[in-house]
Amino acid sequence: MFEESDERANVVSLDASHDRSTFESGVEPLDRYFRAQIGPDARKGMAAPFVLVLPDGTIVGYYTLSATAVRIGEFPEPIAKKLPRYPLVPATLVGRLAVDYRHRGKGHGRYMLADALFRAMRSEIASFAVVVEAKDDNARRFYERESFIPFSGQPMRLYRPIADYRKVFEEKL
Ligand SMILES: CC(C)(COP(=O)(O)OP(=O)(O)OC[C@H]1O[C@@H](n2cnc3c(N)ncnc32)[C@H](O)[C@@H]1OP(=O)(O)O)[C@@H](O)C(=O)NCCC(=O)NCCS
Repeated sequence: MFEESDERANVVSLDASHDRSTFESGVEPLDRYFRAQIGPDARKGMAAPFVLVLPDGTIVGYYTLSATAVRIGEFPEPIAKKLPRYPLVPATLVGRLAVDYRHRGKGHGRYMLADALFRAMRSEIASFAVVVEAKDDNARRFYERESFIPFSGQPMRLYRPIADYRKVFEEKL
């Protein structure tokens, strides 16, 4: 469906059958979150967790999705002027995204991001854009490479309009 990450990995909702113990992104807050907080967040309706799993069950990546809203004035004028003047624009937040350090550079990060955009596009809950928060300059560069645009004055917070993704997706069909 998307540009394949290698090894035929598959994105599914995280559940109790997954072994989270071996996953290591190498970024302590992201690993701690995956071990301790992702379950409670899911149960409390804070974030929907997804994992990228190899055929042998190894988790090579995870990300979370949540509903969010963006103030209309945060979008550049050419985008904002085409929207109805509601103060808040519905969006989908990729709260966290990480790939196991032993499986980097194989397209898994790109694949999970495409999966997140696809889910937002296909959701029954309307969403104008997918929003991400980059934790450092490397992450920001990764997102920019995947066509995410920084909000003005907030270089670490980026968005990609879903209509833009829909166009790319439909061209590939
Ligand atoms: C950022 C991260 C998710 C990328 O995952 P990955 O599976 O290694 O990335 P991919 O193999 O899918 O790479 C996709 C593209 O982004 C580029 N890329 C990957 N990591 C990058 C980085 N740190 N800086 C700039 N570009 C990067 C790749 O070169 C590739 O582009 P190309 O095909 O044109 O060469 C991963 O490095 C990671 O988990 N980092 C730690 C946590 C993190 O920073 N999460 C981001 C949210 S805060």
